[in-house]
Amino acid sequence: MSAAAAASLLKDASLLKTKSYVNGEWVEAKSGKQFTVENIDPATGEEVAKCPEFDAQDTELAINAANDAFQSFRKVSPQERSRLLRRWYDLMVENAEDIAKIITLENGKALTDARGETTYAANFFKWFSEEAPRIYGDVIQPSAPNCRVVTVREPIGVCGLIAPWNFPAAMITRKVGPALAAGCTVVVKAPTETPLTALALAELAHRAGIPKGVVNVITAFDNTPLVGKVLTTNPIVKKVSFTGSTPVGKILMNQSSSTLKKLSFELGGNAPFIVFEDADLDTAVQHLIGCKFRVAGQTCVCANRIFVHSSIYEEFVKRVVDVVKTFQVGNGLDSKTTHGPLIHSRAVAKVDEHVQDAISKGARLLHGGKRLPLGPNFYDLTVLADVTPEMQVFREETFGPVAAFFKFDTEEEVVALANDADVGLAGYFFSKDNSRCWRVAEALQVGMVGVNVGAISDVAIPFGGVKESGFGREGSKYGVDEYLTTKMIMTGI
Ligand code: SIN
Repeated sequence: MSAAAAASLLKDASLLKTKSYVNGEWVEAKSGKQFTVENIDPATGEEVAKCPEFDAQDTELAINAANDAFQSFRKVSPQERSRLLRRWYDLMVENAEDIAKIITLENGKALTDARGETTYAANFFKWFSEEAPRIYGDVIQPSAPNCRVVTVREPIGVCGLIAPWNFPAAMITRKVGPALAAGCTVVVKAPTETPLTALALAELAHRAGIPKGVVNVITAFDNTPLVGKVLTTNPIVKKVSFTGSTPVGKILMNQSSSTLKKLSFELGGNAPFIVFEDADLDTAVQHLIGCKFRVAGQTCVCANRIFVHSSIYEEFVKRVVDVVKTFQVGNGLDSKTTHGPLIHSRAVAKVDEHVQDAISKGARLLHGGKRLPLGPNFYDLTVLADVTPEMQVFREETFGPVAAFFKFDTEEEVVALANDADVGLAGYFFSKDNSRCWRVAEALQVGMVGVNVGAISDVAIPFGGVKESGFGREGSKYGVDEYLTTKMIMTGI
């Protein structure tokens, strides 16, 4: 799809921006270099845009702009920060259909998924507009009787926010919302694969009247590691929030140690999804389908290892296959499409590798298991039974549309299997036994547990992991803490 064709899909074509947004202006890279947006439309593989290839110098200019803006924005009243975020939210709602189309165009996800993401994303601005005026300190009596202590919460400063392509809007708003609520200014590194959604959000920030330099959105492709290095080593940047893979998180953490930045990282998962013998099967099937195949399996909280008790195993797997057969994989913009393509052919290759590895080691293929002739980024929704811990799908997050079923016999066994992972982001289980629910919820080594529920994502929940899934919490009443420091003021009386 050409740029003109893409723009013609939108009610407001001026949302399709292709320059970086720095200090309130749309700018090219100083070098004049651009990159072709890879897979602007993963369904067709055609290019519709070129964006600036920012380098170290361009990134430093954006950081400086954010720093200049911070000197005044930190003093803006919480009520005014709240009003700005609320205005940004209102504009997202007004332009929701266009934002959803841009997401589908560059990410490929089905339009229904993209609409859901747009609402999810906008809600972070609403939520944090409501949190901004509610940032409180404490009054403390220290040991000395003639002293009093108060704590004040202060914005940490300029934040480098590095966002992924799987939620081109929501992973940005989940970081920018609390940062602005706290009084920080930001440099957002737009996802390499999905910069246009990030730039459309910047356009709406501009329209909302967010002061220049408070929100900067920069783009890069080949220079992405360089931009990441500048954001994690420049002493002006005080905080880095990153959502992405564990290996990249380790590099960024290493780099950030040079200036001891505050960090919050939401990294990979390998979510267990356990169905006990006493579960309500209809509910478990329905929730598993949503949890596994949302965005074609490309979320960090998607079920990756599905453990089903041996007494209900065959029945449960059959029911899942029956539902999967009703789905339609296709171009995300097509109204009949339930599941779009994957983000790029590398993702397809990884999914296929996991599937072939499992089959070669004895897994039963019950559905899919193949690339689809629709285009290079399409892979069929796949169901594998009799998967074992020796297979790649057990150890690694597939990040694709593969439902991999394991069989278990006892609670002790399945909890040990579920916890046998370096990462711990989300975990789910289904059971009607109340004592078991508490026991297993507390035993799972993850940051988020769904008990008899597979859709946990919401602005109100503290989203984040343990182990190598990272640290820090996004969303919820805790999200804003990541962007604040606590200052103690002791007064002698
Ligand atoms: C992610 O995949 O990183 C985020 C998923 C979500 O917020 O639901």
